[in-house]
Amino acid sequence: MYRTHTCGELRLDHQDQEVTLAGWVQRTRQFGGMTFVDLRDRYGITQLVFNDDTDADLCAKANDLGREFVIQATGKLMERTNKNPNLPTGDVELIVSDMKVLNASKTPPFTIEEESDGGDDIRMKYRYLDLRRPSVQRNLILRHNVAQEARRYLCEQHFMEIETPFLIKSTPEGARDFVVPSRMNEGQFYALPQSPQTFKQILMVAGYDKYFQIVRCFRDEDLRADRQPEFSQIDCEMAFVEQEDILNTFEGMLRHIVKYTRGYDIGEVERMSYNDAMEFYGSDKPDVRFGMKFVNLNEVSQNKGFKVFDDAELVVGIVAEGCAEYTRKQLDALTDWVKRPQIGAKGLVYVKCNADGTFKSSVDKFFDQDALKAWAEKAGAKAGDLMLVISGRTDKARKQMGELRLHMGKELGLRNPDEFKALWVLDFPLLEYDEEEDRYVSTHHPFTRPKAEHVAKMFEDPGGVLADAYDLTLNGNEIAGGSIRIHERDLQERIFELLGMSKEESEEKFGFLMGAFEYGAPPHGGIAFGFDRLCAILGGQESIRDFIAFPKNNSGRDVMIDAPSLIDEKQYEELYIRPVEVEKA
Ligand code: AMO
Repeated sequence: MYRTHTCGELRLDHQDQEVTLAGWVQRTRQFGGMTFVDLRDRYGITQLVFNDDTDADLCAKANDLGREFVIQATGKLMERTNKNPNLPTGDVELIVSDMKVLNASKTPPFTIEEESDGGDDIRMKYRYLDLRRPSVQRNLILRHNVAQEARRYLCEQHFMEIETPFLIKSTPEGARDFVVPSRMNEGQFYALPQSPQTFKQILMVAGYDKYFQIVRCFRDEDLRADRQPEFSQIDCEMAFVEQEDILNTFEGMLRHIVKYTRGYDIGEVERMSYNDAMEFYGSDKPDVRFGMKFVNLNEVSQNKGFKVFDDAELVVGIVAEGCAEYTRKQLDALTDWVKRPQIGAKGLVYVKCNADGTFKSSVDKFFDQDALKAWAEKAGAKAGDLMLVISGRTDKARKQMGELRLHMGKELGLRNPDEFKALWVLDFPLLEYDEEEDRYVSTHHPFTRPKAEHVAKMFEDPGGVLADAYDLTLNGNEIAGGSIRIHERDLQERIFELLGMSKEESEEKFGFLMGAFEYGAPPHGGIAFGFDRLCAILGGQESIRDFIAFPKNNSGRDVMIDAPSLIDEKQYEELYIRPVEVEKA
């Protein structure tokens, strides 16, 4: 037997027992004829003690141990005189009587402790070392637990886990496809699924009325902290349901997951229309852990001689409670912050609501005390508060104010990562106008059902059509999205037409799905959770990278295995593709 216990489980109860541990050497220290070794495995750290007086040879062997050597140590467990309250095993130590080096290790290129001194690149290259760090391990344990709880909940609700293929035909979710050349079909390619969307709908036609899958999805899109080219979804679909059934089922799943992985009750999940989310928070995924709702100040601020506001489509403000004491320097910093190219505001107007009932603003020249009082009343600002105002084109001003609101929320400590607040965003527009392509594209995907009362006006007013589509947000992040689907061939055909697809093209791409709709397709709908994202938020972080065992870097590379890479000459030939060098020559 390699070990009798793990490095995380020994306590005072085990005192005087003979035990054997195996693990990695985190650190060795010599102190007055004794050598102490911190032995680590994924369960924790236990202190080993080697005594020069009782066994000089063994102690010398311990002194030769390097960081990350793999060893096996046997000895007697004793109570420590010098206890370490920071370690669960800190009351005990193992007095080693026998030790074997199972494998040596080169000195690792960065420290493998809670906080590492290694940069991103080096940690990615030596991912197996980074994965030994407790902080990364905790993330993967959380991920495991979230998956288990999702499965438990869904299975209790009689969902069936069904796998769908990876080598498929393109599914449009708005990103580029990763493609795989087919050796047996010259010049033809599979696409890797951006999601199992069409397959799960076909499973509904097939009668598997509650489906789920924790599934890898592939999207060739620009990477950000919350995006990876391959990521996982908890993908779900149900037949014979209305939107309300889906909202209840999956709000229940989120409540279950947060309760059993974080011991937190998210309570009732609020709902908000897409339009309200944009109007009051400037975002389709508002962080509702805090207020600071937008106030429209057009009425009280326009036509008073301040050209910037008069020319604006929207003058919008927020109230930062208790911030009237902000200094000139702090206000200048905020102004610089909104003027950064990433935010793009032209400027920022402030109004301090002083404790004595007077107002001080950056636009005192144009607005007297009565005018500013009217702003404050409209915005519900009290003495001691600070109003921040942005103006411009509605969409831009809202977006900029949305960013400023999040920034202020963070500055004021209102975005507590240990608090979880979910929100349903409902009634999304079916289509959005793509300026680059100069046409309407689906907001979600083309299988989304338009609201029944809007179908008639689809062609006259495409931009005004709302859909039975919903997103679930958690702490200001989109963690899931879905919709009620179209299940009739003719409506699906009309949507493709609305999207500018010819009959031939829609038949070629989606004939299989529309064909299935002709054989008794039940009404159905579903949702997919971004699994990595959900885990990151539950772990209190924004980047999903450390919640994935082997993620890609910002250029989409796996630097550990060095992929993507060139392939053998022979493979190019077999796949009927030519390496770039050949093309150039
Ligand atoms: P959607 O495209 O909204 O919907 O994706 C669902 C959820 O997946 C997560 N997500 C990502 N996570 C990490 N990296 C990415 N590149 C990435 N892209 C998306 C998000 C998102 O909310 N088939 C539909 C679902 C449906 O209609 O049922 C779909 O894929 O958290």
